[in-house]
Amino acid sequence: MTHFLGYRCSLCAAEYGPDFDGYVCPRHGDSGNLDVVLDYAAIGRSVSPSSLADSADLSLWRYLPLLPVGDPGCQGTPLRAVGGTPLYRAERLGQGLGLGDVWLKDDGRNPTASLKDRASAVVVTRARELGAQVVVTASTGNAGAALAGMAGAVAQPAVIFAPETAPPAKVAQLLIFGARVLLVRGNYDQAFDLSVAAAREFGWYCRNTGYNAFTVEGKKTAAYEICDQLARAVGAPGNRWAAPGCIFVSVGDGNIISGLHKGLKDLTALGWIDRMPRLMAVQAEGSAACAQAWAAGTETITPVAANTLADSISVDLPRDGVRAVRAVRETAGAFVTVSDDEILGAISTLGREAAVFAEPAGAAAHAGLVRAVRQGLVRADETIVVLNTGSGLKDVKSAMRAAGPPARIEPTLEAVNAALA
Ligand SMILES: Cc1ncc(COP(=O)(O)O)c(C=O)c1O
Ligand SMILES: [Zn+2]
Repeated sequence: MTHFLGYRCSLCAAEYGPDFDGYVCPRHGDSGNLDVVLDYAAIGRSVSPSSLADSADLSLWRYLPLLPVGDPGCQGTPLRAVGGTPLYRAERLGQGLGLGDVWLKDDGRNPTASLKDRASAVVVTRARELGAQVVVTASTGNAGAALAGMAGAVAQPAVIFAPETAPPAKVAQLLIFGARVLLVRGNYDQAFDLSVAAAREFGWYCRNTGYNAFTVEGKKTAAYEICDQLARAVGAPGNRWAAPGCIFVSVGDGNIISGLHKGLKDLTALGWIDRMPRLMAVQAEGSAACAQAWAAGTETITPVAANTLADSISVDLPRDGVRAVRAVRETAGAFVTVSDDEILGAISTLGREAAVFAEPAGAAAHAGLVRAVRQGLVRADETIVVLNTGSGLKDVKSAMRAAGPPARIEPTLEAVNAALA
């Protein structure tokens, strides 16, 4: 049974019933992102941290009673395997920064190797409930790979619009999962607008990040997992989960951080956590529209001409920018910006000190932690979670830039000796 009551506009608070057939609040063009409204009283009566502790399902479907969709069925498919990603105790990462309690949540370990699987699993489930013939998305690469994979898992036709500059591994995933792929000679923002126009023209169901309210509902499960897994790791007392002090996450469109915020608000409303973690948002210096709005104390997001090697967070106009800025402000968090060199450094550090291989946008979260330590934004003794959002296998070119070239030698022991000297 779902506890889905409808939608509320994040800008004007207008409410729409569960049968509303738009994507955004009609009063604001494409910018009125909708929040899904849930019946917390009913959820609280049907499920609790204690009852969930008995669930053998470690995927995001563990949290089905808190999602606005019904059980998707399709047992044994990759759609049922999304989530349940590891939360590592990253002692060496912390020690290097003088921090005592750092954890690393590795969402690169999802079926298509990014956090975006969470959104796509829930959106594909919703699309099937609606009887959609085709699901479409615009993507910098990962959202598309995730939609292609999740749609492929249940034989749902999908169309992906991505910038033609997307890293080859991501494009390969789109093609291999059998989606219809249209590489756009333009940037992500142009692909986004084109996909919305195509969805309208052809009657396709549109998954676009932020635009579709169900994306946040999938991504919020990362926050549930962090608190659920931390509780299990530290043995939280009573019928409660454990909230960290803060969570570091990279921001492009701002939908992942909005998802984390929604998840944490759900848990607060249900009384499952007793404090709200600070959300620490990390943007690339070259793609920092949300950070600039936050620093200026405004919710008006002014587009930038994005330029960063972290392709997944390279966004001119963040499509979920207002909610991203609010997520930070309402949790007393902060935005930090990091350079591409700092992001490359973080790829190396995560690999060497935590054995986690992150793509640039994922590693940006750790680069943000390093910055925040320098700026005195975290306490040495607080529980800190760094969220890696995508696997390094998605962008091997950047990884090789971070690592530098390996030694190449003749096949002789002398050459080994010389190389090791
Ligand atoms: C690996 C990775 N990290 C971070 C982000 C940023 O998420 P959002 O655009 O929701 O802010 C993305 C989005 O594509 C991503 O793929
Ligand atoms: Zn509105």
